[in-house]
Amino acid sequence: MIYAQIMAGGIGKRMGNVPLPKQFLMLGSKPIIVHTIEKFILHTEFELILVSVPEDWISYTEDILKKHAVTDERLRVISGGAERNDTLDNALKYIEQNKALTDEDLLITHDAVRPFITRRIIEDNIKALEDYDAADTVIAAFDTIVEGKDGEVSNIPVRDLMYQGHTPQSFRINSLKESLSKLSIEKRQELSDSAKIMLLDGKKVKMVDSEVFNIKITTPYDLTIANAILENIH
Ligand code: CTP
Repeated sequence: MIYAQIMAGGIGKRMGNVPLPKQFLMLGSKPIIVHTIEKFILHTEFELILVSVPEDWISYTEDILKKHAVTDERLRVISGGAERNDTLDNALKYIEQNKALTDEDLLITHDAVRPFITRRIIEDNIKALEDYDAADTVIAAFDTIVEGKDGEVSNIPVRDLMYQGHTPQSFRINSLKESLSKLSIEKRQELSDSAKIMLLDGKKVKMVDSEVFNIKITTPYDLTIANAILENIH
C-alpha cells in the first residue's frame, strides 16, 4: 500500500510575526495546507493521507478542511512532533497501529508548505521506490554552493554535483524503520533530513527531478512569490 504524509508539524518561526503557523496562512482563496492536500487527494493510489499538524492545531485543521469542502475519507489529521523526524515517527506509528505493514508498503512524505507539487513528481517518487528504498526530490543548484564555518569559506564544491533538496522524500516503510532503529537518540535529534537516515545506513537514495516552482514557503518573501506563481505561472 502507498501512504502519504503531509508534514505540517512546524510553527514557521522564519515567517516572522504572523497569527498562525505558516501552513495555515492564506494563499489566494485557500490556506497553503489546503492547496497541498488537494494535490494528494487527486492521487487515487494512496491508501491513507496523513496530515501531521501540531497537536493544538488538530481541531483547527479539521475545521478548515470542512470549510473548504475537503472531505476525502482517506484523510487523517494526526499530531506532529517536536522535530521534523518526530513528525515522521508519529506517522510511522499511526500506520503501524492501524494497518498491517508489509515490505511492499511505501510512504511519500511532503512539506505542507510546498503547495505546487505536481502529479508527475508524486508519480516519479512512487516509481523510484520500485528499485530503491528511498527517493529524494531535488533540483540542480543554480548558484554556486559555498560551504563555510565561523565566517570563513571552507569549501566550494563543484556546482554540477550540487542539488537543492525539495520534497517529497519517499521510503519503503520497513526499510526506513530498520534504519531509524539503528540511530542513537542524539543522532536522531540532530538529523533534520529524513533521506539522510537512509544514507547513513548505507542505503541508496534515488534522485527524482523537482520543478523550480515546487518552492517551500519559509519567509514572507516566499509567500509573495507563491502568490505570483498561483496567479501567473501555475
Ligand atoms: N515540520 C513538521 N514537524 C516539525 C517541524 C517541521 O512537520 N516538527 C514541517 C513544517 O510544518 C513544514 C515542513 O516540515 O511544512 C518544512 O519545514 P520548515 O519549512 O522548516 O517549517 P517550520 O519548522 O515550520 O519553519 P521554521 O523553521 O521557520 O520554524
